[in-house]
Amino acid sequence: MSKGRLITFEGSEGAGKSTQVKALKKYLVSLGYKVVCTFEPGGGSDLCKKIRSLLLSPDSGDFSDETELFMMLAARAEHVESLVLPSLSRGEIVICDRFIDSSVAYQGYGRGIDIKTISQMNAFAIKGRYPDLTVVMDIDPVIGLKRAAKTGSLDRIESAALSFHQNVREGFMSLAQEGERYFVVDASLDIQTLESEIKERVLKLLKYEN
Ligand SMILES: Nc1ncnc2c1ncn2[C@@H]1O[C@H](COP(=O)(O)OP(=O)(O)O)[C@@H](O)[C@H]1O
Ligand SMILES: [Mg+2]
Repeated sequence: MSKGRLITFEGSEGAGKSTQVKALKKYLVSLGYKVVCTFEPGGGSDLCKKIRSLLLSPDSGDFSDETELFMMLAARAEHVESLVLPSLSRGEIVICDRFIDSSVAYQGYGRGIDIKTISQMNAFAIKGRYPDLTVVMDIDPVIGLKRAAKTGSLDRIESAALSFHQNVREGFMSLAQEGERYFVVDASLDIQTLESEIKERVLKLLKYEN
């Protein structure tokens, strides 16, 4: 059995992550791969969903940046344990909408928590199982938030100031310089063009690392 692959999608609200995750899943399934689509925060067991609703609900009121980080990480640890690792060990392709890099971009570059600390906490939560490929969808937050607002009301994090979202975007871009696993796309392009760019990169991953 071929070993599993972990592909993550990162980028600001409205960048088009969910759209591309869906398209990539359809494509890989058509090639005969077993694919699991998931997301953070909240993918995995019921506990993960409960943590998500605490995190994103405006009803939760204010809580500290550190609290936000610990809750994200708690949801991640449980997600990895309950869904990601078991799927990978069965040789499946796991596509995850947001993962470790969102914590660095939002809680680090956005909220100002020490980046190195977050990276270490990430490594702990994922038990060292880093993504094989991370698609970073880069978008001007003004465009992204406009797109996101069309699909419903903005949640607690989406409603933060524009400067916060600009810092998040810079965070993703500086992370993307750090390693081979990142693939940056210009998310202002049309859906079809992005789909083909991503397919091509994913095929390369599946071909050369088998
Ligand atoms: N490349 C694109 N160009 C224009 N609109 C897009 C593009 N990708 C997605 N959209 C639209 O923008 C909105 C947000 O897309 P979505 O995939 O939900 O983004 P995300 O999951 O990153 O928040 C949806 O209405 C979607 O149809
Ligand atoms: Mg989405």
